[in-house]
Amino acid sequence: MGNKVENVGILAIDLYFPSQYVDQTDLEEYDEVAAGKYTIGLGQSNMGFCSDREDINSLCMTALHRLLKRNNIDLHDIGRLEVGTETIIDKSKSVKSFLMTLFAKEGATDIEGIDTTNACYGGTAALFNAINWVESSSWDGRKAIVVAGDIAVYGKGPARPTGGAGAVAMLIGPDAPLVFDCGVRASYMTHAYDFYKPDLSSEFPYVDGKLSIQCYLSALDNCYNLFCKKMRKVDPEFKGLLSLDGMLFHTPYCKLVQKSLARVSFNDFLNASLEDREKQFPGLSQFDNHSREETYFDREVEKAFMTYSKDLFEEKTKPSLHIARNVGNMYTASLYGGLASYLISKSPDQLIGKKFGLFSYGSGLASTMYSINICKDMSAGSKLAKLINSLHDSLSMLDKRICVPPTEFSEIMDVRTKNYHTAPYEPSGPIDVLFPGTYYLVKIDDQRRRTYNRKD
Ligand code: ACO
Repeated sequence: MGNKVENVGILAIDLYFPSQYVDQTDLEEYDEVAAGKYTIGLGQSNMGFCSDREDINSLCMTALHRLLKRNNIDLHDIGRLEVGTETIIDKSKSVKSFLMTLFAKEGATDIEGIDTTNACYGGTAALFNAINWVESSSWDGRKAIVVAGDIAVYGKGPARPTGGAGAVAMLIGPDAPLVFDCGVRASYMTHAYDFYKPDLSSEFPYVDGKLSIQCYLSALDNCYNLFCKKMRKVDPEFKGLLSLDGMLFHTPYCKLVQKSLARVSFNDFLNASLEDREKQFPGLSQFDNHSREETYFDREVEKAFMTYSKDLFEEKTKPSLHIARNVGNMYTASLYGGLASYLISKSPDQLIGKKFGLFSYGSGLASTMYSINICKDMSAGSKLAKLINSLHDSLSMLDKRICVPPTEFSEIMDVRTKNYHTAPYEPSGPIDVLFPGTYYLVKIDDQRRRTYNRKD
């Protein structure tokens, strides 16, 4: 190709969430837990869910179809299609191969990429693969698409209200309005049994809730400190959170994200000189000798830095929680639902030139912090306006969803659980409740082959 590509990043985003949800206040009552436990304690308002009519293939097909149509994408202009998911329904055949049905009918089959899996991190790994490809010597001048999606369901019990479902599709290429910073990605990867899915006959994970929170926060500490170190090499004036206009996180539930922003402030505090601490963090000197490792569940540290970071949270993070609060955890799509939520909270003019930090976490564990800049070029400005407009359209569907009582939600979950491994199988979930344009499962035959249709 010769010419070096510039401003590689996200050109367009579309997303899909299910048409049905359960209200978390109703769920508190149904589960007979104290009022406020899910809504205040976890910070969740509503939880999206699918019946047996939808699976990971249909979810991803719906998101991809929307991205292709809304952006008038020439299928032959796509050279790479990556999928990130942890919703595994086939140990061999990729979700990407199903998505190819949308391309193959037009003869577009020269498309690299397959699925990537590690809990909620797969979408980020898929995104990095796409960005790296465009920046590499293998690039042939075409664009890439990344689809990240999951159905997050838990067995009855305390984890169930942290479920959700959805998929995000992103168009990747040069001269993008959302540009990835080079050379500052900071990863932390290690082994942990905090959340995992070893039982292939069940849709539910094994979860050690408390350990998963500790793993998430320690991954955040590690990624953030390394990210700051790498940023300071590029920009010696980089001042951590104060130098970022937005700070976005993978969102298992909103309260953890508020605690995470406080944790970032605690890290800035620990990294500051004693003199700077007095200026920037007045009244917090009693925490001078606290360590990261011993404070994951330290209520005093948590409370003090939640209070300190309250305004920072309102400004830099809260706008990113709109989808997460109303749909729940979309696993691999969660962070990108956060990005979409943040973008629609502002006008393009307010976003130009801004820098965001993003923290991606997948149990098990894999995590990375990286940054995105909103490009200042004139042409990027119009692309950004288009991107935000189409997100407004997609997100307006949140208000068109159907609220389902918890009894019905629980019955639908029971149907999914009972039939998870059944073949042949014809789903019983109604088609009329789906949004127009949604792909759905028609049947699974005796060879476990799945067929899909699209609602008009
Ligand atoms: N009003 C207000 N708050 C309340 C009330 C009430 N009536 N009752 C309880 N709470 C608060 C609790 O104090 C607690 O707050 P805290 O986190 O500040 O301590 C919060 O509600 C949750 O209640 P707990 O009893 O601590 O937790 P529970 O045992 O219900 O489980 C958990 C919560 C661990 C998050 C569970 O839902 C879970 O396992 N989820 C899946 C795992 C997960 O999401 N992990 C995060 C990272 S990994 C990933 O992304 C999958």
